[in-house]
Order: sequence, then structure tokens, then C-alpha cells
Amino acid sequence: MKKILITAGPTREAIDPVRYITNYSSGKMGYSLAEAAVKRGFAVTLISGPVTLSRPEHLAEFVQVVSAAEMAEAVKKRFPLMDAAIMCAAVADYRPVCISQSKIKKNGGNLLLTLERTEDILQTLGKIKQPHQQLIGFAAETDSLQAYAQEKLRRKNLDWIAANLVGRTDRGFQSDDNAVTLYGAHGEIIDFPLCSKRELAEKILQAIFPESSSF
Ligand code: CTP
Repeated sequence: MKKILITAGPTREAIDPVRYITNYSSGKMGYSLAEAAVKRGFAVTLISGPVTLSRPEHLAEFVQVVSAAEMAEAVKKRFPLMDAAIMCAAVADYRPVCISQSKIKKNGGNLLLTLERTEDILQTLGKIKQPHQQLIGFAAETDSLQAYAQEKLRRKNLDWIAANLVGRTDRGFQSDDNAVTLYGAHGEIIDFPLCSKRELAEKILQAIFPESSSF
């Protein structure tokens, strides 16, 4: 049985005990991929940031994390045992340098938050990836989809990248639907027009793992 690791959802980066930085990711795309991978006979490890979705059935493992650092630790520990990984999570790129232990009180002036980079988990996996392992990333772009996606594919040493346009209300992030273009390391370009994330997940897996079939 092939083992696949999938990340999903946003991460939360704490500012103080009552506030955090996050993004609009709903987790629907990653959860749909996990469900589709189970149907195709994979042993699925789903590593999820905070979402309101219910846990897919028949997972090999379900790991709930909150921050980018927790997600990085959970993913790096498990990746060497996997045949493939799909990094669908919208991981925060920055986190506050200091987390205040007490609630930050307002005052008359501005509040300046200093943020530092989080680890790029996908890039780390691209560096440690073995020849038998397939690594798939996602790219959310507001413009120049193909150029940015193919640059990310190369820079992060991926086998595939699923790129989608964000900043439109009919697709992506909170929506039930999405349209993506899949770019392969060997120059493949496959367009998947707007459809449900459930359907899209099936099509993406069919394209990347044609030898597996859904039951
Ligand atoms: N990703 C990750 N760890 C991070 C940030 C992103 O693993 N700290 C992964 C996401 O899961 C996704 C891909 O990287 O698969 C997105 O790439 P990224 O370069 O973060 O995309 P953008 O945030 O759109 O990058 P940029 O700011 O360069 O547009």
C-alpha cells in the first residue's frame, strides 16, 4: 500500500493569548485530496491546521496542528516514510518574533508587530526528497500564474505543482469549487476547469498517479 502525506488548512501564528495571524484557507481542497487518496487505496496521513471540517474516514493517521512550526515538525518526522507528499496547506509565511505572554493592551499610538519568516516546509522536503518520492506543491497566485508556478516548481524541487488563481470569489480559498493548472517537472501542463474540490481532487490524483484507480 502506497503511503501519502497530505497537509491541509491554514496555520495560526499567535500574537498574544487572544490574538493570532492566519489566512482564509478552509482546508476543503486538502481534505478532498485526502478523501480521494483513501478511495484510490493510499494509506493517508493527513496533517491539518485548524479547520471546521470533519475528519475524513479511513485515514492511516490524522494529526492536528496549529502553528507553522508544529506543522513543520509533524511533516518532517513522517516524510521519510512516505511515497508521496502533497502540501496543500496555506502555511503562514511569517510569524510574530515575540509572543506576548499577556494580552497586549491598546494605547493611543500605533502598534508595530515585527514578523519573522517561518520555515518553508515544502522547500525543506524538496531538499531531502529521495528519487522514489513524489513531491507535490500548491501555488496560489493573483497574477502571472504560469511563470510563478513553474519558478516555484523548479526552486522547490517539486515533481508537480497545482496552481490556482486567488482573489476571485467563485473559486479558491473559502469556496467549494476551484480551477487549477497542474505543471509537471517534465513540462506537462494540464488544465482542470472550474469544478467542485471533490471532483478536482480525483482528477489531480488521477493525473499524478495514473496507476492507482478509484474504488
Ligand atoms: N508552503 C510550505 N511552508 C511554508 C509556506 C508554504 O510548505 N512556510 C507550501 C504550501 O503548502 C504550498 C506552497 O508552499 O504547497 C506554496 O508556496 P509559497 O512559495 O509559499 O507560495 P506563496 O505563499 O504563494 O509564495 P510567494 O510569497 O512566493 O508568492
